[in-house]
Amino acid sequence: MSESLSLFVTRVHRARFSKTGALNDDIIAAALSFADDDEAGQRWSDENSYPGYTSYGSFTDLPVRAPCFTALKKLLDAEAVKFAKVAHFDLNGGKLKLDNLWINILDPGGFHSGHIHPHSVISGTYYAQVPDGAAALKFEDPRLPMMMAAPTRDSDAPEEMRSFIYLAPEPGMMLMWESWLRHEVVRNEADEPRISVSFNYRWD
Ligand SMILES: [Fe+2]
Repeated sequence: MSESLSLFVTRVHRARFSKTGALNDDIIAAALSFADDDEAGQRWSDENSYPGYTSYGSFTDLPVRAPCFTALKKLLDAEAVKFAKVAHFDLNGGKLKLDNLWINILDPGGFHSGHIHPHSVISGTYYAQVPDGAAALKFEDPRLPMMMAAPTRDSDAPEEMRSFIYLAPEPGMMLMWESWLRHEVVRNEADEPRISVSFNYRWD
């Protein structure tokens, strides 16, 4: 008898929240309003070549700036607890706490090249506005730098065996992963901006 074992599994946690129409409308309105008024954020986005607007470099207190972000934090906190269980984190009596929450308005043609989120445990994104053709999120196998002379995978390999995975966002969907997992926002091919809210959790 022989068998193959799945070891060192990488979890990506996906939630599709129901009845998020009003929440998404509020997030979109708040995001567009901040994008108009937040001069520090506009400057940060320009200086860092962000294709659109992000509040990453300006606001650190989004959950108290508008009720929609307070509501979103509540949804995310519950998912972070679930993810910690799924990932079998031993938090040693501590908790995962939302460290930062920021708006992304990704213009048509915009993308965000491969990156990780340092100084965090869990990271992720909630999607509020996803026009047709909007950018997917691409994850890559964290073992790639070790695969020196290894063959590539079959083009029809099952999802868990692939080196690159593209997950298409939908309005009301959240994706959450361990912060060391390298990911990339591929080019937004839609005619409209894609509006999302990203986050980091730390271990306290
Ligand atoms: Fe990211």
